[in-house]
Amino acid sequence: MNDTRRQAFHKLLSFFAASPLVQAQKDLEYKPEHLPGVDQMVNVFEFEPLCRYRIPKENYDYIAGGVDNEWTLRRNREAFDRIVIRPRMLVNATNMDLSTTLFGAKVASPILFSPTAGHQLAHPDGELATAKAAASSNTIICLSSNSSYPFEKVAAASEAPKWWQLYPREDDLATRERVERAVASGYKVVVLTVDAPYNSHRERLLRNRVRAQVPSGDPGATASNTRRRRQDPERKPLPYRLEATLVAQWDWTYVSKLKEWAKTPVLIKGILTGEDAALAVKHGADGIIVSNHGGRYLEYAPSTIEVLPEIVQAVNAKFPVLIDSGFRRGTDILKALAMGASAVMLGRPVLWGLGAFGQPGIEKVYQLLETELALAMALCGKANLRQLDKSLIRSDR
Ligand code: FNR
Ligand code: LAC
Repeated sequence: MNDTRRQAFHKLLSFFAASPLVQAQKDLEYKPEHLPGVDQMVNVFEFEPLCRYRIPKENYDYIAGGVDNEWTLRRNREAFDRIVIRPRMLVNATNMDLSTTLFGAKVASPILFSPTAGHQLAHPDGELATAKAAASSNTIICLSSNSSYPFEKVAAASEAPKWWQLYPREDDLATRERVERAVASGYKVVVLTVDAPYNSHRERLLRNRVRAQVPSGDPGATASNTRRRRQDPERKPLPYRLEATLVAQWDWTYVSKLKEWAKTPVLIKGILTGEDAALAVKHGADGIIVSNHGGRYLEYAPSTIEVLPEIVQAVNAKFPVLIDSGFRRGTDILKALAMGASAVMLGRPVLWGLGAFGQPGIEKVYQLLETELALAMALCGKANLRQLDKSLIRSDR
C-alpha cells in the first residue's frame, strides 16, 4: 500500500471507529464466557448483538437489514433526536396507568408487536413463543402472513389478543378463504400491508445469496428456506431484477373487498403521507399503521415520526393511527403518543429478544420499554395516556 492510500485507509478506519453505532456495537461484543442472563439486560439495544451471536449470520442479516444504503433505517433512529420533551413539574403522577383499549382489547400499555416474517429464523419456538410473550405481557400480537407456524397453531398457543397481517394472493377466492380461516381461528383485526408492491434491493441478502423477502403467503416458506441455506461460496448469485409482488396489482378498492371478507376491523399498514391517510379513511379503513417497514422497502422514505404530524392532521382525532419503525426507547414511544399516535408497534426488538433468550427475551424487551415509558411519563407529570398531547414536545428542525 502506498502512503497516500494508507493515509486514506487510516482516515476511513478512524471515521468508522468514531461512529457512535460502531462504538456501541464494539462495546457489546459478546464472548461465550461472558454471556449475560436475561435479567442482566439493561436496554433494548443490548439484545441485538446477543441475538446476532446466537443465530446464523444470514438469519441475522435478513432481520437486521434495510434497503440500499440503509439511509431510512438509520433515519428511523436519528429522527427521534430532533424532538425534545417539555416536562411539567409538581403534578401528582403517583397513579401511573399506561393501559388502553384497541379494537375491543384492553392492553397493559400502547406497545404492540408488529408483524414480522418467519420467527423461527430467530428461535425454534418461533411465533408460538411470541404469542405466549404477548399474553404474559398483556399486549397484542399481530401475526405476519409469512409466519413460520400456521396461524391456527399460533392462535391456539396463547390467550393474547391477536391480529393478522395479510399479503393478498392473486386469486381472490384463495385470499378470501385464508382471511376467513384466520378470523375463524381467533384473529380480531386484519392488517393489510401496502408498502411492498415490489421486492426491494436488500444488499445483505444479495451478498448472502438468500432470497427471503418474497411475501409468498405460504406459512413456513420464509423461515425454512432461509434456515436450510448456510453460507456457501459456491451458491450462485441471485440475479437482481425488478420483481413485483401480489400487492402491486391492488388499488384502494381492495380495502372494501377485504372488509367484506374479514368482517373485522381492517387496518392499512405502510402509510407515510397525509394524502394516503385521508384515502384510507375515505375507503373505509378502520385505522392505519404509519410505517416504512423498518426501512426495508423504499430507500429515502421518511422516518415515521417525522410524518406523524401531517398524518394525524389529515384524519379525524378519533381515527386510530398506529405507528412503527425504529422504536427502541420509552421516550421514542412517548413522543409518538404525544403527537397523537394511538399505539406504537415493535418489529425487530421482538425478534432480538426472541433470538437472544426465546420467550423470556421478548418479555424482557417489553418490560424494559413499558417501564421506560412509564418513567418518561412520570417525569413529565403525566399519569395516563389521556394526558398526553403535542404540548409535551418540541421539534428542533
Ligand atoms: C418485517 N416487517 C413486515 N411487515 C409486514 O407487514 N409483514 C411481514 O411479513 C413483515 N416481515 C418483516 C420481517 C422482518 C425481519 C422485519 C424486520 C420486518 C415490517 C414490520 O412489520 C415493521 O413495520 C418494522 O419491523 C418496524 O420497524 P422496526 O421496529 O423493526 O424498526
Ligand atoms: C420483509 C417482508 C416479509 O420485510 O415483509 O422481509
